[in-house]
Amino acid sequence: MKRLPQLFQSNRRWVERTRAADPEFFRKLAAQQAPEYLWIGCSDSRVPANTIVDLLPGEMFVHRNVGNVVVHTDLNCLSVIQFAVDVLKVRHVIVCGHYGCSGVRCALTGEGGGLSRNWLRHIEDVRTRHAAAIDALGDAQRRHDLLCELNVIEQVANACRTSVVEEAWRRDQPLAVHGWVYGLEDGLLRDLDVTVVAPGTLAEAYGNALARLAPRSAREAAAR
Ligand code: CO
Repeated sequence: MKRLPQLFQSNRRWVERTRAADPEFFRKLAAQQAPEYLWIGCSDSRVPANTIVDLLPGEMFVHRNVGNVVVHTDLNCLSVIQFAVDVLKVRHVIVCGHYGCSGVRCALTGEGGGLSRNWLRHIEDVRTRHAAAIDALGDAQRRHDLLCELNVIEQVANACRTSVVEEAWRRDQPLAVHGWVYGLEDGLLRDLDVTVVAPGTLAEAYGNALARLAPRSAREAAAR
């Protein structure tokens, strides 16, 4: 219990494999990090950021929390965004949610959660804001999937409204904020097409992304 030899063994195997592919890999990586992407995703062990987009160490800066939430008073997330945007000069911020998210399920049903329930209030707020569209769906699975998508769209808007991102755009630093959802069952990413590249385009991107979700919700409501 005090040591975890299996993880140290697998670490050494990984180092050997990586060195075999590129003998200079660690030396180059230690000299600098210049990732192009900041990933803001869920802590869920089934959604490992680098793995699902097949990127190597050094290629993506990562922040994960329960429910991939961007909260304006969360110094942890804000500090990550600030370092990524101001210092590393990433070109893309990716907010990635996933279907089958326990955090979203808890926010939707109000069941379980314990202490994290307080954190998940932010997703409950998303649920409240879009209650009409969510409640129009008869199927519990579809309600869950829709809240996963809506949560990403809202967190993209929150990321765009951080002072760090606003100031980067003000000084014409190239920066795009994207909203994606990952499917646990097929391993595939879906782009929710809510990409924002300038502050003036947030309202339009947000409105269009919601509109694309709404017809499906209305269709499913009609089919009940
Ligand atoms: Co999750």
